Amino acid sequence: MTTTQYIRTGCFLAAAAAVMIWSCNTGSSAKTPAATISTAPELLKVDTSTIPKDKYGEMVRYGRELMLNTAYYIGPEGINGRYLGNKMNCTNCHQDGGTKAFSFNLMLSHQEYPQYRAREGKVLTLAERINNCVTRPHNGKPLPLDSKEMVAFLAYLRWINSFVPKDKPHQGSHNLAVKLPDTAADPEKGKTLYQEHCARCHGKDGEGQLAGVTYTYPPLWGPNGYQPGSSMHRVIKQAQWLKANMPYDKASWNKPFLTDEEALDIAAFVNNDSIHARPDVKNYDYPHVAEKAIDYDKGPFADTFSARQHKYGPFRPVISYWEQNGMKASY
Ligand code: HEC
Ligand code: HEC
Repeated sequence: MTTTQYIRTGCFLAAAAAVMIWSCNTGSSAKTPAATISTAPELLKVDTSTIPKDKYGEMVRYGRELMLNTAYYIGPEGINGRYLGNKMNCTNCHQDGGTKAFSFNLMLSHQEYPQYRAREGKVLTLAERINNCVTRPHNGKPLPLDSKEMVAFLAYLRWINSFVPKDKPHQGSHNLAVKLPDTAADPEKGKTLYQEHCARCHGKDGEGQLAGVTYTYPPLWGPNGYQPGSSMHRVIKQAQWLKANMPYDKASWNKPFLTDEEALDIAAFVNNDSIHARPDVKNYDYPHVAEKAIDYDKGPFADTFSARQHKYGPFRPVISYWEQNGMKASY
């Protein structure tokens, strides 16, 4: 499902809820003015003070610790195991330990796996999906499925899932949408914007700021950044996330700092492999080409567009082509 579709669904549910409340009110003596009723879908959030004080709660707490201080526990110098190939933390992308709305939020994940994954062309468990992030953005080796760390991640994801309202519309589980322009994203413009808005924290060469076991500001490319097969390496995917979340001290989901076009240009610059090296990987998956995300730049492709167009756009002609040929364009 694309983000746009999700947001539309969210609005529809909100509208439906509003109509229900409205019709209740008109049925009574209409004491409550409609203006005081919030029709906005609820924002996803959790309350950590409610983590149970039992064995399960202990695992939830460790899982949360792992999300926030991943490198400290299981990084290249990890105290509980050496799995990650870099010193980034899960929370660098899944902010607030996967609970921040519109930031690759993980609160639905526990209820949505096992799930068919086009990338591998098979149904994966949530544990296997976690290992995809351990191996790709963290450039590491998979956690044993029965390790304490994997069980803790799973316990934590189950616990945050319990805060997802079951009977009310909610928002923030998917990133914001970006409007796709008619032109390709421009890494040259992105370069200027990057130096202006991002370099002060992430460094002029995207190297980040290392502080011992992990980063104050994580790296964006280079040997310590995410792999080219990571979803963050896809231009649309990254732009959708940047919109609500970066610059860190200026953007929020309801007041983005970058325009959609700026977010796409910057993502194009950050992910420009001809100037930015990344850890080398050989396997880019997607056994069925017609299931490949359209902003995934590794061929072969199910259409005749170039790798460059898959990377930078313009994406709309690609989407139209896919739709006309009865394929589902995902991004
Ligand atoms: C460089 C950024 C980055 C880092 C670091 C990262 N992830 Fe991810 N993760 C992603 C992206 C991007 C997705 C795909 C989200 C999407 O498709 O919308 C994802 C997806 C996931 C999913 C699947 C979510 C779902 O519901 O389908 C899980 C679970 C997950 N990550 C867990 C982790 C864990 C645990 C860590 C730390 C070990 C981690 N991630 C580190 C970027 C990252
Ligand atoms: C004020 C400092 C600051 C600025 C400015 C800033 N960031 Fe970040 N960025 C962060 C921090 C801190 C994190 C990690 C977030 C966390 O752990 O909660 C992060 C995480 C990221 C990540 C995901 C992790 C990774 O390293 O891959 C990306 C991508 C990113 N920023 C891109 C950008 C871009 C592009 C800009 C400019 C538009 C930008 N940031 C501006 C502080 C900043």
